[in-house]
Amino acid sequence: MSTILKLEHIYKSFPGVKALDDMQIELERGEIHAVCGENGAGKSTLMKVITGVYKADSGNMYLNGEKITVNEPNDAYSKGIAIIFQETSLFKDLTVLENMFMGHEPVKKIGPISNIDYAAEEAKATEIFNFLGISGISFDDKIDNLGVAAKQMVEIAKALTYDAEVLIFDEPTAALTEKEVRSLFETIQRLKERGVSMLYISHRMEEIFEITDRVTVIRDGSFIKTAKTSEVTEQQLIAWMVGREMVGELYCKADVEIGEPVLEVKGLTKPGLLENIDFTLRRGEILGFAGLAGAGRTESAECICGLMKRYTADIKLFGKPFKAKNYRHAIDNGLVYLSEDRKKYGLVVPMSVKENLTMSILYQISKGTFIDFKTENQIVEKYMKDLSVKAPDKDFVVENLSGGNQQKVLLAKALCAKPKILILDEPTRGVDVGAKAEIYKIIKQLSEQGISIIMISSEMPELLGMSDRVVVIKEGRKVGEVERKDFSQEKVLGMAL
Ligand SMILES: Nc1ncnc2c1ncn2[C@@H]1O[C@H](COP(=O)(O)OP(=O)(O)OP(=O)(O)O)[C@@H](O)[C@H]1O
Ligand SMILES: [Mg+2]
Repeated sequence: MSTILKLEHIYKSFPGVKALDDMQIELERGEIHAVCGENGAGKSTLMKVITGVYKADSGNMYLNGEKITVNEPNDAYSKGIAIIFQETSLFKDLTVLENMFMGHEPVKKIGPISNIDYAAEEAKATEIFNFLGISGISFDDKIDNLGVAAKQMVEIAKALTYDAEVLIFDEPTAALTEKEVRSLFETIQRLKERGVSMLYISHRMEEIFEITDRVTVIRDGSFIKTAKTSEVTEQQLIAWMVGREMVGELYCKADVEIGEPVLEVKGLTKPGLLENIDFTLRRGEILGFAGLAGAGRTESAECICGLMKRYTADIKLFGKPFKAKNYRHAIDNGLVYLSEDRKKYGLVVPMSVKENLTMSILYQISKGTFIDFKTENQIVEKYMKDLSVKAPDKDFVVENLSGGNQQKVLLAKALCAKPKILILDEPTRGVDVGAKAEIYKIIKQLSEQGISIIMISSEMPELLGMSDRVVVIKEGRKVGEVERKDFSQEKVLGMAL
């Protein structure tokens, strides 16, 4: 084995944050190397240093034994290092082919004139698509019209146009369906067989153990350990990440008496999306919504909470007919929705943690036209502490938080609104194991307080671990309902597929 990429003594600070503190990592040729750590540990920052998005304050980087500096992303590309961003860096108005060769188009000289050599582009792109086993995407599709998984494939294909030798994946599966994950893993195996070396970040432990050869753990920006994945246990890995042993069950289920119906939905229909969905949620109950991505779970929630218009349904809220005029109307009636899309209905990222948390309840904590700052600060401090949001202070801009900490702020914002019914859409996406346990504990406490919860999740263990009952949605229809005593992964998946 030979080392392809090596970093040592890497330091990187942001105002008020030491993101990387004497970090090191060695990547061997042809291996898949996991980078593990809690939310805010510095994983993404390290990857951005490698790819020239950020410049390290100090430290050394070697590629094939040679010292290199990477000043900007294009530098990284030309050296054969590429990152597959979760939020794609592709140009959405351009085509697949244009994106793949952007900035390094092959040229053809006819006399004194240089032209883009489209034939050469297509030939190379065809070869790459064949190698990756991509089907169903054509070269002149516009990026904007592709789904998350397809965009990701185009990013990988683009990296191969640079003959990338080092590929970085930062939480690539967070927004993929089970089937898309399988196909991504096949692609990753092919890349490995071709000799590509990969760094792989994920909060899903089972993925780390399935596909990686070695793992490096980072904690508070510092290097902790590198080990062979086959020689560590999940327990051990988590202990290195959080710096202590974690004991007990991850999922904790409250033993609460389930009360009267609080939300009764009948015949929820939205042409082309939802058809005749019925369900009832009771007081203190946790109702899971299972299904594949795109099945209509999010749309159902958005209709009920006034975020989507033009649907028909008979809805009763606390026994009385209800139709949300808009989201504010839903909140005022105790119905709160935590969106799966942090940016769409969730957070205003250029604003501070504090502003985000209290944005939807300002009118509740104001006296006349004045905001009661004391109350506001108390609320914000409480939730930041309860959810251990890692930020230097409450005025920190959300944009600069790590992904998992943004997710915690989103949950805190929903809790601030004092829900009686809380709809959680993918509540632990991108959240580390420690924080997941904290979120489950909070969900348990909420149900003990009589709050009713709908949990939409693509993570089957989480759904089965936390719910009293699971409703299965498929292609806009309800296809089944399973009680906790009858739970099994096969049963629920069987209905959803
Ligand atoms: N541009 C920035 N400005 C200020 N602070 C930043 C910036 N980018 C990252 N940070 C801080 O650096 C630390 C490390 O963040 P990073 O995104 O690398 O964490 P991570 O390990 O990727 O976490 P997650 O698992 O949640 O994605 C965090 O405390 C974060 O708030
Ligand atoms: Mg990250």
